[in-house]
Amino acid sequence: MISYKLAFLGFGNVGQALARLLLRKMETLQNRYGLTFTVTAIATSRRGNVVHSQGVDLSQVLHAVDSGGNLAQFPTRPISDTVEWLHACDADVLFESIPVNYETGQPAVNYLEMALRRGMHAISANKGPVVHAYRHLTELAQAHGVEYRFESAVMDGAPIFSLAREALPAVDVHRLRGILNSTTNLILERMQAGETLEEAVAYAQSIGIAETDPRGDLDGWDAAVKVAALCTVVLGAPLKPQQVERQGILGITPADIARARQSGQRWKLVCEAYWENGVLRARVAPSLVGPESPLFGVQGTSSMLTLETDVLPGLTIIEGNPGTETTAYGMLADFLNAVKMHPKR
Ligand SMILES: NC(=O)c1ccc[n+]([C@@H]2O[C@H](COP(=O)([O-])OP(=O)(O)OC[C@H]3O[C@@H](n4cnc5c(N)ncnc54)[C@H](OP(=O)(O)O)[C@@H]3O)[C@@H](O)[C@H]2O)c1
Repeated sequence: MISYKLAFLGFGNVGQALARLLLRKMETLQNRYGLTFTVTAIATSRRGNVVHSQGVDLSQVLHAVDSGGNLAQFPTRPISDTVEWLHACDADVLFESIPVNYETGQPAVNYLEMALRRGMHAISANKGPVVHAYRHLTELAQAHGVEYRFESAVMDGAPIFSLAREALPAVDVHRLRGILNSTTNLILERMQAGETLEEAVAYAQSIGIAETDPRGDLDGWDAAVKVAALCTVVLGAPLKPQQVERQGILGITPADIARARQSGQRWKLVCEAYWENGVLRARVAPSLVGPESPLFGVQGTSSMLTLETDVLPGLTIIEGNPGTETTAYGMLADFLNAVKMHPKR
């Protein structure tokens, strides 16, 4: 049995879901992969940090955090900030799930860089570093014999990046098209069922999928960052979110909604990128789609991506109503794939 030391940088919705999933899958990891783990470090912004070389009891940590507590009750080396924590955490794998910074990807980029330089696999749910530092982090990982993986950054746990990396060798992707922002998909659906924008946003916030400040979703930024990440990794064309032509859903009027209802169509926030005469075009914009479109049936918080390639004319992945466990699963899969690539001796 090979034992891995794990460190959690960020222990919010995603970090906690990953902790629960690791506990739930513990026997599977032992029986199928011959591996076990200890959690030697956890870092948060306001709830404190833990570093303990013998490992903390993850169930107890989850219980403490679920009951509104912090990490102060757990034994730790004294740590003053995240950089010091990274130097001290002595882990094989870093799971990073801190909030996204659309403009620069920081401070996550610096933290992932530090982890890779220290010989840890860096597994991240954060799309910021993908669009701002994909090549740099990938090359750094290669130089240190470890992996930088980020499956959960787009479409949660759906294996988009693994598909492109491992299952589609020698393929040229000409176009990608889909629905990548779950929050606006749900909001548009509820508006079409009769709610106002404000009511639909409040509902999305009440079930925890829209943030207190929902502008990142409504203005199309989240979708634009995902398009940029897919262009960078899957199309091999580095693109910044600012280069994606972007229109959010705030311009959709009640009259537009009524028109969609009358014509039996639905509004969708459509993401698209394609090559045109050697130039990459990328855009996020609301579109009216009819029942003949595969996008029509993507309801609730589901998402969908179609890749058009030189050999497979249309390959589609649909992810039905993901939750935080779906995101956590992407990170777990990244972990298993990383240690398969670089077995610990
Ligand atoms: N939620 C989803 O379903 C989902 C899906 C796909 C991808 N993602 C991505 O996953 C990441 C995390 O999302 P989330 O929903 O888990 O966010 P969250 O609930 O806000 O959790 C963020 C965590 O990061 C900690 N943190 C923030 N800044 C930090 C710093 N500088 N050093 C150490 N810890 C820091 C926070 O500390 P405190 O606990 O003290 O606040 C919190 O524990 C984001 O990048 C998001 O875009 C999320």
